[in-house]
Amino acid sequence: MSKNSECSVNSEHQQRETSLVDPFGRHINYVRLSVTDRCNLRCTYCMAEEMTFLPKQQILSLEELRDSARAFVELGVRKIRLTGGEPLIRRDIVKLVASLSAMSGLDEVTMTTNGLLLPGLAQPLKDAGLARLNISLDSLKAARFKQLTRVGNLDDVLAGIDAATAAQFRKVKLNAVILAGFNDDEVVDLAQFAIDKGMDISFIEEMPLGEIDSHSRVNTQIASGRLQTKLGDVFNLTASSDVTGGPSRYWQVANSESKIGFISPMSNNFCDSCNRVRVTAEGRLLLCLGNENSVDLRQVLRSYPGDIQRLKTTIRSAIEHKPERHYFDSEHVDIVRFMNMTGG
Ligand code: 5AD
Ligand code: SF4
Repeated sequence: MSKNSECSVNSEHQQRETSLVDPFGRHINYVRLSVTDRCNLRCTYCMAEEMTFLPKQQILSLEELRDSARAFVELGVRKIRLTGGEPLIRRDIVKLVASLSAMSGLDEVTMTTNGLLLPGLAQPLKDAGLARLNISLDSLKAARFKQLTRVGNLDDVLAGIDAATAAQFRKVKLNAVILAGFNDDEVVDLAQFAIDKGMDISFIEEMPLGEIDSHSRVNTQIASGRLQTKLGDVFNLTASSDVTGGPSRYWQVANSESKIGFISPMSNNFCDSCNRVRVTAEGRLLLCLGNENSVDLRQVLRSYPGDIQRLKTTIRSAIEHKPERHYFDSEHVDIVRFMNMTGG
């Protein structure tokens, strides 16, 4: 074998060792890590009124979360998003952010939150190295917000958004799940709110995850295209080439700092460019949001504590089973797991 070909075999081998590529050629460089299935809200599209949460000992410990992250980073993952449930109700969340941020090889630690606890936590999170935040805000009407979240106060989220602004994260983005007949009349107001704050906002189509009892999802389905038309009538939107590594397609709002994004799991399958996997709060590696197949990382973590190599082998072989795409059907709930289990 010539020196050159030996070299290229070696670098190929090295690349295989340090990157995750699925059978469809997609490079997995992004992990969403759920740190709890609990939440201080009860959004109707996410949870049933009565929920049973996991016993604490079934949730990954701080150490187990770190080891999982370490294994993914050694396999080429560059971005970790912490999710829940609500990640900020986990007591050791700032500690976790600090240790992930210090991990060499990781470009970014980000978080999706409902914002309620940000007044006390935004600055500590920023100081711990959190780069970006997504805050959920589905309505600007207090009564409606209460109805949607069953228990939440809009003012608390608004205070959380202000706290995030004051802490000067690299970026704060708003997320709004839009339900026809419920809050689709607010898309322009929500966009204007984001523009006034100099933030981006993404509008999300509701996904049929978990059996809910508050509404029939067939009736609340509304395609992003319809929202885009509505918004295009009011704002001057130009397609943006920006990609953040997530599934949003962005439009720049003229004369503003803001972009409007659309996340369209129902109307526009984005699986071709999928670069991510999820780990549930109990340590199940979910290969796709819209499929039930998963691999139990917790079993490896608890049978072989600290054995990063074994975790890596488990993850690598799991990725070989990543499905090509999701098939959602709003008339049927094929996926029984709720979003709070999945990590948004
Ligand atoms: N469909 C779409 N988005 C959902 N979220 C929760 N449940 C669903 C669902 N069924 C969103 C939340 C938040 C993120 C964590 O996931 O609104 O933005
Ligand atoms: Fe909590 Fe988010 Fe689910 Fe609402 S959508 S109940 S804030 S996890």
